[in-house]
Amino acid sequence: MLFKQQALLRQKLFVLGSLAIGSLLYLVARVGSLDRLQPLCPIDGRFGPRSQDEIPLRALQFKRGLLHEFRKGNATKEQIRLHQLPKAIIIGVRKGGTRALLEMLNLHPAVVKASQEIHFFDNDENYAKGIEWYRKKMPFSYPHQITIEKSPAYFITEEVPERIYKMNSSIKLLIIVREPTTRAISDYTQVLEGKERKNKTYYKFEKLAIDPNTCEVNTKYKAVRTSIYTKHLERWLKYFPIEQFHIVDGDRLITEPLPELQLVEKFLNLPPRISQYNLYFNATRGFYCLRFNIVFNKCLAGSKGRIHPEVDTSVITKLRKFFHPFNQKFYQITGRTFNWP
Ligand code: A3P
Repeated sequence: MLFKQQALLRQKLFVLGSLAIGSLLYLVARVGSLDRLQPLCPIDGRFGPRSQDEIPLRALQFKRGLLHEFRKGNATKEQIRLHQLPKAIIIGVRKGGTRALLEMLNLHPAVVKASQEIHFFDNDENYAKGIEWYRKKMPFSYPHQITIEKSPAYFITEEVPERIYKMNSSIKLLIIVREPTTRAISDYTQVLEGKERKNKTYYKFEKLAIDPNTCEVNTKYKAVRTSIYTKHLERWLKYFPIEQFHIVDGDRLITEPLPELQLVEKFLNLPPRISQYNLYFNATRGFYCLRFNIVFNKCLAGSKGRIHPEVDTSVITKLRKFFHPFNQKFYQITGRTFNWP
């Protein structure tokens, strides 16, 4: 008798325990996804009439609607998830914070990122494979989501503007920049780390950045050339009007990412969905990390945010003086001024 009662009690406890765990898991999933599942539609009123190139943003309702249709047999699987060509590309600048920008934009429910750098437009071999090859490289997305890819080499490669123009002349182009000298040193640090990994020696930054014969800035050094933003931008402007570009402040994205991301949301005609909740400062990393929901968060890989080698102050001063006129021109063209020295 006692044994039977104990068995019954155990059974009841098991059922109650399962129910409690089930409810808890449901709550975790529900609360965690709240920020991504806010209704998206009220944006219409807030943003005024929708312009022609505006991206419709009922992504999630649309997704659910299609799923329903799919279950009823009225929609095909292809209608639900497609490889879509990007509607926006982060074209550069290398070491400007391109990965952080892409990952942070991916917090938005209507954005889908291409995880890898595709290098379609800057690599002749890839480009020869054709646009369908490129499309297939894109992640699956729902029709009303936008795909974004980033390949920082696009910004400095001569053939790229024309090639992108041929694909989509109204594409939106994002450029993330940092103070040019810091960017050049970051660029050098990445190469240096690669050499060290292979047990190779490498020159000091000062030796590469300054021509030993003239004692002037060495404009043949790639890390220097890449930081002359205006020169590259001018090439792009032969194909695209300035309105199709948005300049992101990479230095501010490090210290205060949300306002920069909000400007990008606006540029892409996306309703504001990325919030402070999605970004938290990780003191150990010294950078903001990403929070998708209460169970899923991540920081960027350790290769982002390297410690730079110390550089001779006279070289830094020389470089800053060298970049100054190019920076002024860049501010003038883009309409965005930075406090670069
Ligand atoms: P450093 O390694 O010089 O610090 P990219 O992705 O274009 O290669 O840019 C790398 C740079 O992104 C890093 O340069 C880092 O400063 C910057 N960055 C911006 N936001 C970051 C973040 N949240 N986490 C890590 N790095 C970030």
